[in-house]
Amino acid sequence: MCGIVGYIGKREAYPILIKGLHRLEYRGYDSAGVALLDSKANLHVYKTRGKVVNLENYCKDKNVSGTIGIAHTRWATHGEPSDVNAHPHYSQSETLALIHNGIIENYLSLKQMLERKGYKFVSQTDTEVLVQFIEYIKTENKCSLYEAVHQALSQVIGAYAIGVLEKGNADTLVAARKGSPLIVGIGEAGEYFLGSDASPIVEYTKDVIYLNDEDIVEIRRGVGEIMIKNLSNVVLKPQVQKIRMDLSEIEKGGFAHFMLKEIFEQPKSLMMCMNGRVQSELQEIMLSGIRDNIEKFRNARRILISACGTSWHAALIGKYLIEYYCKIPVEVEVASEFRYRNPVIFEDDVMIAISQSGETADTLAAIELAKEKGTFIYGICNVVGSSVARATHSGTYTHAGPEIGVASTKAFTTQVAVLTMITLLLGKELGTIDRTTYKSLVRELDSIPEKIEKIVAKADEIEEMSKVFTYARNFMYLGRGYNYPVALEGALKLKEISYIHAEGYPAAEMKHGPIALVDEEMPIVVVAPKFKMYDKIVSNVEELKARKGKIIAIVSEGDKNISNIADYVIEIPNTEECLSPLLTVIPLQLLSYYIATAKGRNVDQPRNLAKSVTVE
Ligand code: G6P
Repeated sequence: MCGIVGYIGKREAYPILIKGLHRLEYRGYDSAGVALLDSKANLHVYKTRGKVVNLENYCKDKNVSGTIGIAHTRWATHGEPSDVNAHPHYSQSETLALIHNGIIENYLSLKQMLERKGYKFVSQTDTEVLVQFIEYIKTENKCSLYEAVHQALSQVIGAYAIGVLEKGNADTLVAARKGSPLIVGIGEAGEYFLGSDASPIVEYTKDVIYLNDEDIVEIRRGVGEIMIKNLSNVVLKPQVQKIRMDLSEIEKGGFAHFMLKEIFEQPKSLMMCMNGRVQSELQEIMLSGIRDNIEKFRNARRILISACGTSWHAALIGKYLIEYYCKIPVEVEVASEFRYRNPVIFEDDVMIAISQSGETADTLAAIELAKEKGTFIYGICNVVGSSVARATHSGTYTHAGPEIGVASTKAFTTQVAVLTMITLLLGKELGTIDRTTYKSLVRELDSIPEKIEKIVAKADEIEEMSKVFTYARNFMYLGRGYNYPVALEGALKLKEISYIHAEGYPAAEMKHGPIALVDEEMPIVVVAPKFKMYDKIVSNVEELKARKGKIIAIVSEGDKNISNIADYVIEIPNTEECLSPLLTVIPLQLLSYYIATAKGRNVDQPRNLAKSVTVE
């Protein structure tokens, strides 16, 4: 949610910042801007509504020289997307420029105070309040930029990752974080980068410092050193870490969109996820996070799984898996609800928090709430070093590689794979799963990437089919058991990127309402691989067909019954029921992708959405 990039060094900053903004655009794309200090330390701010390419066009005839700068791509919170609300924001005297990701919750009271002192505001943003506040403190206290930022942030309530520049001071870049991620990259010979994630930095350096909450950093040219203090004024030793990310992972590699690349990548991302963990020769699962904390799970009164969006759908599959094979009660919680409903949490609960980005504000808040009660928290996340990874007691990385498409695909399948591995290992250790079943599921899990290859090979067929459905204004997705969450996920994928309204429902439950929507116009995707509920689903399909619904069925290879009734059929290879979501979701991802592209949608940057929701 909002992308931040910054640079200070010997090179021209503007090309680095623009390239960085393109890489960050998946985080927010309703407006973009850049601030630069030229060789005379004059401060220039350029910003405009729309995508980064608009900013580039706008800057064509502007002075974009300078070796220090900050830039931002926005996902609006306070104030609609517009030129004036875009970042960077100037302070009143135009001596400071600031970019911000997050929300300043007490901005109104600060604004009123500043207005009383004569400050005028041109935007509706909380960010402008912050930069004015910093200027006010700087003027009042005649202090350095760093000191003014420090004092201002001590009085701010809310979440932020910020970068600040000052006119007349082309040697200093100040940045800070609380609740929103921020990384400092260390390049060659006194060159530094700033990024809200590693994507704008990785091309230049792999040495980074992950700032912690309440860290404020001053990067000074020439001194070749950075100084980090926290809000309590404690000087901190920078901890330099290596990022494990290659440039190729954040490029499209010949695909039209990141989303399509990421759908096709799933066999590989699952192999990376299972590498060394699913040991097919030994027919064993190895997960150190679970093995080292087995007693926590053994003694767990219940497991709470907390997540948002697609990760919440993976969590629902986790409930089916863990309850069936480990016999531990599981409750799945949408993090934004959980955190505010005064939930009953026991010290002997275990929480599993799932997040691709590791930065979702509500998921982090749910973790903190459970932590306060003394609960053991296990994380499942993709981004190494992210806030969720750091806030949890232990966990498993999904190792899906960077996911850039806003609609999550490979993150989902790897999350489900991790939940499956956790289930199998727990079941074995707790003695709730018999040896034969355990071994055969381990073998079968190992074969899933190959089976996904067979499904993505049908992409052309699915693309053809999708053309028929661009007319639709509503879609229904039905599934049962393990495939009910898949129906939810299929509906979400379609909504997100095609803007067609879609609902996911447990197939049997459709008789309690949604069936009223069914007519010859209504496409219904039925996820119906051949398992124990198959006959019941066949009856559901008959009921829908009797009302002239257009059925697209996801069935097991060689299916005869539903194939005869449905209008369109996509076959998936045979597998075990508990592993079937890893296969059934793939055609649904492809179907959404092709319907959306046939409708001319920008699938990598769907309207109003952002990849990572770092505000509540
Ligand atoms: C946003 C993204 C979704 C994602 C959700 C949760 O809404 O667009 O794709 O599922 O956030 O994100 P997380 O990073 O916590 O999994």
